[in-house]
Amino acid sequence: MPDILVDGKYELNGDVYIQGSKNSVLPILAASVLTYGVSVIENCPALSDVRASINILKYLGAKCSFEGNSLTIDSRNISDYKIPDNLMREMRSSSLFLGAILGRMGKAEISSPGGCELGPRPIDLHIKALSELGATVKHKGGNILLQSKNGLVGSEIHLAFPSVGATENILLASVLADGITVVTNAAKEPEIEDLADFLISAGANIEGAGSDKIVIKGVRKLFGTRHKVIPDRIVAATYISCVAATGGNINLINAVPNHIRSVISAFEEAGCEFKERDNILSVKANDRINSISTVRTLTYPAFPTDAGPQLISALSLSKGTTVFVENIFQNRFRYIDELKRFGANIKVEGKVAVVEGVESLSGTECECTDLRGGAALVVAALAANGTSKIRKTEHILRGYENIVRDLSGLGARIKYI
Ligand code: EPZ
Repeated sequence: MPDILVDGKYELNGDVYIQGSKNSVLPILAASVLTYGVSVIENCPALSDVRASINILKYLGAKCSFEGNSLTIDSRNISDYKIPDNLMREMRSSSLFLGAILGRMGKAEISSPGGCELGPRPIDLHIKALSELGATVKHKGGNILLQSKNGLVGSEIHLAFPSVGATENILLASVLADGITVVTNAAKEPEIEDLADFLISAGANIEGAGSDKIVIKGVRKLFGTRHKVIPDRIVAATYISCVAATGGNINLINAVPNHIRSVISAFEEAGCEFKERDNILSVKANDRINSISTVRTLTYPAFPTDAGPQLISALSLSKGTTVFVENIFQNRFRYIDELKRFGANIKVEGKVAVVEGVESLSGTECECTDLRGGAALVVAALAANGTSKIRKTEHILRGYENIVRDLSGLGARIKYI
């Protein structure tokens, strides 16, 4: 993958269109396995994780064509129930296909999803919930085989933790199950609502998505539909972090302020000014932001773990000290050693990072450790004085359609080399 070269520090000004949401479109692509017909997914971001999902859909027997940001999926001839190891390895969130393949084929087999850069990524909550819907679970070597010979049966499921993926797998497995499924302590992220909207438009009967209690009444069949993916709230949070770090005034086109209330209030506390009108969220940042007393990541609607690295990057240049507590993932601070190469002053103790703002950062060479850690390095490079080179940028392509194009449009001196 080409490296990214950044010349800093320049203010950001102008408009940037916010792409469709990665964490919404991935479960929706899995959901297309449940439909008999042709679906058109609009505002579909061109991401490597999307291409990995399309490879899985094609392997299962679907026909896909991706033009611009419109993805057409013909799922009528899906006939396979196994996801081969090589395709599983391309994308950890392929575990989202479990519920959909099980719902359509009566069985599903995947290689157990390895950990990822953020630490172990178990799917015990997914497996437990699918068993409660009547699936039997067998471990075959490194593979997990789920079967439901007599079809899945609706049941009451209480999630020990409001896992986003587990909630999505339950929705996917229960829409064609026999009877009613009630999920309590469900995840409330906007991506859950978007997945439910897709399924409902395909004929599913779902109430309560977006709240912590979701009721799904099984139906007999789902059909092809047309769906526009919601904007990516983490991409919006990333660009807010960029302007907070460099100063300037940008307009996020198509961002949904209600999806990032906790992010907006954190950056308001740091001194940024926001304006909302129509589908435009404007952010103004002066030269140096203030620190924020304490930031804790938690499930929605609290501050999102996926926007943490980018915020920490911006706070590296703040006046004062911020205590940042990461409560969702065990190993989300790997990028901080790379941030220190810019001159950031951050101390990590377990799940706490203490960010002492410094006057300035200096350009350096660094490499991405994971998707959002990579985005954090871009934030730092934009705000650092001098030239920076960022390697292993393939991590960034998983979640950002074209971060170089988006930021260049705001006046950043950034390019691929
Ligand atoms: C989704 O991951 C997102 N990915 C993540 O975004 C996001 O960080 C996360 O939700 C939290 O919001 C997609 O939507 C594709 P979880 P997911 O299940 O579903 C533990 C990004 O950068 N857990 O809510 O995997 C788990 O280990 C990515 O876009 C179990 O222990 O998140 C983690 O510590 C990163 N057992 C915590 O719960 C389980 O069965 C949150 O996981 C499931 C999860």
